Amino acid sequence: MDIFIERRETRPAMGLRSATDLFSEWADNGRDEGMEKGHTASVDIMLERLLEGREKPFTALDIGCGNGWVVRRLSGHPLCTHASGVDGAPSMIAKAKEVDPDGDYVEAMLPDWTPEEPVDLIHTMECLYYLSEPLPFLKTLHDTWMKPGGRLVIGVDHYVENPSSHDWGPSLNVHMALLSIEEWTEGLQKAGFTDIVSTQVGAKEGWSGTLVLTAHRPFDE
Ligand SMILES: C[S@@+](CC[C@H](N)C(=O)[O-])C[C@H]1O[C@@H](n2cnc3c(N)ncnc32)[C@H](O)[C@@H]1O
Repeated sequence: MDIFIERRETRPAMGLRSATDLFSEWADNGRDEGMEKGHTASVDIMLERLLEGREKPFTALDIGCGNGWVVRRLSGHPLCTHASGVDGAPSMIAKAKEVDPDGDYVEAMLPDWTPEEPVDLIHTMECLYYLSEPLPFLKTLHDTWMKPGGRLVIGVDHYVENPSSHDWGPSLNVHMALLSIEEWTEGLQKAGFTDIVSTQVGAKEGWSGTLVLTAHRPFDE
């Protein structure tokens, strides 16, 4: 029972390193580029699902945007009127701005920051589980960050059904909330999202794939 409680603990423990310090160091060492390559196959599918059937112009936001590569993919879409990214790692944002000086990249810590305007589309790859309380943050996204009729796509590699990811938090000494597919799905439901679909993409031997969750904020609530 003790072991179970320890494994399912989602609150950060004392003495852990902040994820944004770690990833700022990764950007300084060029490791953001390897991460971009490693995430591309899953993000291709996430963007496809986010943009599927889109016919009207849209605004978009990437949460935990790292060096900004997904923001640049979104802003390259012909219907995108504005794309922005937020990340708390100073060197990630510095890199994003260096590559794309005209881009909209914000250095800010979540969940404390709020965008000036709600957006139509939200993308977030491998970021939300670094927050102390990822599930309540979903309600903030629904209520404040997203316009009615908006769409959200979340990608996570660290989740209960992907056992090979379980030791990442302890090995990097960084807080990572370990949630199950059911917990993410219920969290989205409780936040008010509808049409929630979860799939695991890119699964192979010893790897359960990226958990990709899509959801809508309904027009009428
Ligand atoms: C695993 S990286 C993924 C980066 C990017 N989404 C990608 O796929 O290349 C996680 C990112 O989330 C950011 N992050 C983690 N916790 C954060 C927080 N509390 N506030 C803002 N950014 C955070 C980190 O700085 C890091 O750049």
